[in-house]
Amino acid sequence: MRQERVLKRRTHAADFRHLKTLEEFDWQFNLTIQRKQIYELATGAFIRKSTDVFFVGPPGVGKTHLAQAIGYEAIKMNFHVLYRSIFDLVRDFLKDEAFSQQERTVRKYLKPDLVIIDDMGLKSLPRHSAEYLLEVIMRRYENRATIMTSNRPLEDWGKLLGDVPSASAILDRFLHHAQTIAITGRSYRLKDQALVAPPEGKTKAKPNEPSTAGSASKSSEARSLLA
Ligand SMILES: Nc1ncnc2c1ncn2[C@@H]1O[C@H](COP(=O)(O)OP(=O)(O)OP(=O)(O)O)[C@@H](O)[C@H]1O
Ligand SMILES: [Mg+2]
Repeated sequence: MRQERVLKRRTHAADFRHLKTLEEFDWQFNLTIQRKQIYELATGAFIRKSTDVFFVGPPGVGKTHLAQAIGYEAIKMNFHVLYRSIFDLVRDFLKDEAFSQQERTVRKYLKPDLVIIDDMGLKSLPRHSAEYLLEVIMRRYENRATIMTSNRPLEDWGKLLGDVPSASAILDRFLHHAQTIAITGRSYRLKDQALVAPPEGKTKAKPNEPSTAGSASKSSEARSLLA
């Protein structure tokens, strides 16, 4: 069927990494994640409005899983999606800089209806990373939707990018119309370790509890820190 072929082609073009779907997500594991909020994002309304989504939280809580699953739902609605880790994004720019084809790279990042920039904070970034990310965010701002994920708080972005002014310029635009999904709790990667009895004298791990911190206030707090 033609529609199936299109879906397959667009999924391939999105370049996902170990794509998992919303159906594969265990909503009971982490109660700080609101299923309703994620399904609302999966309707693609934020893409139509060209707004942004920021997933922030510790390792293994499902940021990459959910970002890609939302991307996949968007593809099913005929949107063009591109998935990239921040390292791949920087690599794309560095590679094309060597061939003076930066405009081509910029266009590649401008065209998709949704770009997912994953793994902010996972490891240190090469020089000029902030400029490349700023270029992408600046061009997409109020024009196309972007999802970013980070396992480090926004206050750390200046240091992560090695460029505080660019980090503030990136966050100022990115957060302007962004919905922040702040996830707390344990890593799903360590899920099975919960079955092991805690060592003598240590208290049992608590189940994940819903976060009480408002995401909006978190963003403005981080922004003022960067200002
Ligand atoms: N609630 C969940 N239900 C099912 N699978 C989950 C859940 N949370 C995480 N996973 C799975 O656990 C693994 C780690 O999740 P993921 O890669 O999304 O974490 P992350 O938040 O992006 O972490 P990191 O900051 O290290 O990149 C993946 O295989 C993912 O599919
Ligand atoms: Mg991840």
